[in-house]
Amino acid sequence: MKLSVPGRAVAAAVVAATTLLTTGSIAGAAPASPGVAAAPDLPVANVKAHLAQLQSIATANGGNRAHGRTGYKASIDYVKAKLDAAGFTTTLQQFTSSGRTGYNLIADWPGGDSNQVVMAGSHLDSVTAGPGINDNGSGSAAVLETALAVSRAQYKPTKHLRFAWWGAEELGMVGSRYYVNNLSSTNRSKISGYLNFDMIGSPNPGYFVYDDDPAIEKTFKDYFTGLGIATEPETEGDGRSDHAPFKNAGIPVGGLFSGADYVKTTAQAAKWGGTAGQPFDRCYHSSCDTTSNINDTALDRNGDALAHAVWALSS
Ligand code: TRP
Ligand code: ZN
Repeated sequence: MKLSVPGRAVAAAVVAATTLLTTGSIAGAAPASPGVAAAPDLPVANVKAHLAQLQSIATANGGNRAHGRTGYKASIDYVKAKLDAAGFTTTLQQFTSSGRTGYNLIADWPGGDSNQVVMAGSHLDSVTAGPGINDNGSGSAAVLETALAVSRAQYKPTKHLRFAWWGAEELGMVGSRYYVNNLSSTNRSKISGYLNFDMIGSPNPGYFVYDDDPAIEKTFKDYFTGLGIATEPETEGDGRSDHAPFKNAGIPVGGLFSGADYVKTTAQAAKWGGTAGQPFDRCYHSSCDTTSNINDTALDRNGDALAHAVWALSS
């Protein structure tokens, strides 16, 4: 959907000034800062089309897209083909976990300052119990569509953009840890920030923003505030998804989350709608995490926020 963003006409001098402020947190992160290129609206229909494809892949591969199974590799192939056709430089990173081969997919958008890399990622594997459409087809599809939007816009950010789809998150963030551990310290130091998207279309959604790097957090929070949507800080997730290895390596992190197995409170239902006393995602890690297990409004808003942050933090 079309979402309005504050005015952005402006002077390059101001942009230069905003990119100077940094001390241990991502630079140039002021949301709606003058001169920041506006992100396009992320078409939720396109994000849902990716989810339908991931569902078909699971259905054709024993009902899941889990690490080491044929449905995982088919998911990787689907995402990689889209990115290759859009002009990304893709790298398949192979690793072994629990005696099975896993893969991370890394996609670099050519150009930008290679000493300042902004990354956005999501885990592409499901649990073995089901197709993993909210967890985490939702994040994977929205990150893919954001990358495709970068290509459609032929966006020329100041910083270098890199997108990632992690394997074996459900086995304990194995793929993302492997990626971070295998970066040279030089390359690690070039990553200005990592944005994580794990479960962003929960059927009884909340709007949680990772309470981590202050500048990244503010970029997301201000975006939702501009839409009149209340957010809450996500703290429970600190060790629970692929941002953890980046955070542990001293890289600024942030992200969005619409809730998993925790129960929505009365206060949360009052501000977000939905059903109090029920989990944010009653199909978390179950066979019913299908394309029916998605709240389109949450998927749309979080996808738009993702694209906004990628643009704003890399401009
Ligand atoms: N990564 C978790 C999983 O797949 C999902 C999750 C639960 C989560 N709580 C979180 C992700 C908080 C981010 C933040 O099981
Ligand atoms: Zn999960």
